[in-house]
Amino acid sequence: MELERAIRGRRSIRKYEEREVPREVLREVIDLALWAPSGMNRQEWEIVVVQGTMRDRLLEVVSRSQDHIMPHLQELFSEKIIKISLQVFKNLGGAPTVMAVYIPESRREIDAATDAKGRYHQEFDRFNRLLSAAALIENLLLAAYEKGLGTCWMTGPKYMEEEINALLGMEGRELVSLIPIGYPDQSPPAPPRKKDVVRWIGSQSS
Ligand SMILES: Cc1cc2nc3c(=O)[nH]c(=O)nc-3n(C[C@H](O)[C@H](O)[C@H](O)COP(=O)(O)O)c2cc1C
Repeated sequence: MELERAIRGRRSIRKYEEREVPREVLREVIDLALWAPSGMNRQEWEIVVVQGTMRDRLLEVVSRSQDHIMPHLQELFSEKIIKISLQVFKNLGGAPTVMAVYIPESRREIDAATDAKGRYHQEFDRFNRLLSAAALIENLLLAAYEKGLGTCWMTGPKYMEEEINALLGMEGRELVSLIPIGYPDQSPPAPPRKKDVVRWIGSQSS
């Protein structure tokens, strides 16, 4: 599939078919995700593939994040959108597989009294690890779409991070996102994109 078509056509899928994705296909998607760039090529990321009864237990934990997410949704969306958004936290759209992306636990407290360089030095590890993981996730989403699969990048479950990490046995790691993955059972319209976010500075020499 042409890259432009994948970039434009990929959507967040919040309803999936029950049928399992063959493990070989999931492996191919992960392999492509792992070609993402990373800060200093450290590749400090981990993907945990959750299926079967563990997926069911994960769903139960994630469903408890709804109360924390509600205030954010109420600030931004209509009742109708809130209902749809909350549904995905109840069952992760029914996806048979959920991928959890992790980075190593990094320093989070930043000393605001120091100058900008000092602050960046303090947040260097977490900043680069998070951005690298985000690149990995975008690769994963596009690779999945190319193979006819749906995904939804989710940070909402982060409210239940402690419980999720305990369930998955991820000590000393930070949960970046959960990504349900499976055959889509919906084809949602594309939410419009903002256009007024680019500033051109200077002129081209030729
Ligand atoms: C960092 C990040 C966090 C997100 N978290 C959630 C989430 O918790 N729940 C959800 O339903 N969608 C989540 N999304 C999906 C966005 O809502 C979605 O990408 C956006 O509405 C644009 O729609 P599209 O992906 O179909 O183009 C997240 C996306 C990103 C990039």
